[in-house]
Amino acid sequence: MSQRTRVLTGITTTGTPHLGNYVGAIRPAIAMSRAADTDAFFFLADYHALIKCDEPERIARSRLEIAATWLACGLDPARVTFYRQSDVPEIPELTWLLTCVTAKGLMNRAHAYKAAVDANLAVGEDADAGIAMGLYSYPILMAADILLFNAQRVPVGRDQVQHIEMARDVAARFNHVFGAGRSYFVLPEAAIEEQVATLPGLDGRKMSKSYDNTIPLFAGGAAALKDAIARIVTDSRAPGEPKDTEGSHLYAIYRAFATAGESAALAADLRAGLAWGEAKQRLFARVDAELAPLRERYEALIAKSGELEDILLDGARKARAIAAPFLAELRAAVGLRPLTAQPATAGAKKKPAARGARFVTFREKDGHFHFRLLAADGEELLLSVPFDSPKAVADWTRVLQKSGGAAAFVWGPQSLQLRAIEHVGGHAFELWYARERLAEGGPYASAEVRDATMQKLVAALDALGEGGTA
Ligand code: TRP
Repeated sequence: MSQRTRVLTGITTTGTPHLGNYVGAIRPAIAMSRAADTDAFFFLADYHALIKCDEPERIARSRLEIAATWLACGLDPARVTFYRQSDVPEIPELTWLLTCVTAKGLMNRAHAYKAAVDANLAVGEDADAGIAMGLYSYPILMAADILLFNAQRVPVGRDQVQHIEMARDVAARFNHVFGAGRSYFVLPEAAIEEQVATLPGLDGRKMSKSYDNTIPLFAGGAAALKDAIARIVTDSRAPGEPKDTEGSHLYAIYRAFATAGESAALAADLRAGLAWGEAKQRLFARVDAELAPLRERYEALIAKSGELEDILLDGARKARAIAAPFLAELRAAVGLRPLTAQPATAGAKKKPAARGARFVTFREKDGHFHFRLLAADGEELLLSVPFDSPKAVADWTRVLQKSGGAAAFVWGPQSLQLRAIEHVGGHAFELWYARERLAEGGPYASAEVRDATMQKLVAALDALGEGGTA
């Protein structure tokens, strides 16, 4: 049980699912949830939906449709934990605890917020015109979603990777400030499905609501599916003329549903002159063969919304059985404890310092100078980049000594930054000061070892900063 990887992802409840969502997100996520070694958490991110939409009827309808869609497509609520974000009050509660340790400067850098600011500036508006705090704090709510369940892997699209990195930053900061030697939060990793192709829409661009080029998944039934397929743009080659599948999005959509053999057969027929109209009929037949049984389940679920409601409430109970005791620990960690639980002496509690961490400097055969930071037990925590002079090494080690580990989490142009990185050698991290890349740690065999070493480094810098052994 404990060997299973905890995988968690949220689905924002705005809009109605289309074929691109099904191929790109729903189908692969459900397949993944069936693997024996995953412990999957799926939830409807309905608090996130409120950030983007102030139409109550649309929010309500979308929650129903999206819940029904995932279940109809085969999500098994007995096997995964399937719930609504807004049914788990521990999520907004954790959001506040995290908000209190999140640097404002970190949120300033969020792509979604920056894009909104840029759009304002481009039309001569005030930078923050029309921007709600919900949009600004969006990444913190998302961090709470993930960290509350200590998810290890978070399947998301590329546009969400920055949010996962922010969740890691916030988690590391909380661990550092309140952990007292213990890591409350696992640092999550984004999991990007590289193989899953993005489905083209009617006009060949990526299928997306914002391009108005979607094919509905269930809405409108088989008739709407057929209708949309008829509107797929093709070239103007007449029946009988040979047709190329290269660049044909009709063919790309067909391939997302067909076996390799079926796809090859359609390609051969098109080359032999099959009319586009007939190809569209074949596409409809193939897609509908997969979707018709799911659509039937979908319609049954929508009709029995009371049962759906019960399934989701049941999922929330499962989620809260994990979340509530964990949140109690987190509340205690920050000092929200029963009044009877006071420390024996109300004096300043010293953080357990990593005693005896030290810098060593050396010169390489090529004439460059380096420093290493060693933990008390001699483990190498950092190896610097090459420097031209021993003075540069002395200056930088003094800066690091003075700043202490906490500085690694103070975001801003003048500060230290510790960044996890992935490269061919494995999992590593880098230490930057403003625009200077100072040192690297690793590579390590696993992300867990890397993350643990990063925590150890922060503790060692703290010890040095507090006048510990240098
Ligand atoms: N922001 C995500 C999106 O728009 C949805 C989401 C909310 C999410 N909370 C999450 C995804 C937590 C993964 C984990 O796609």
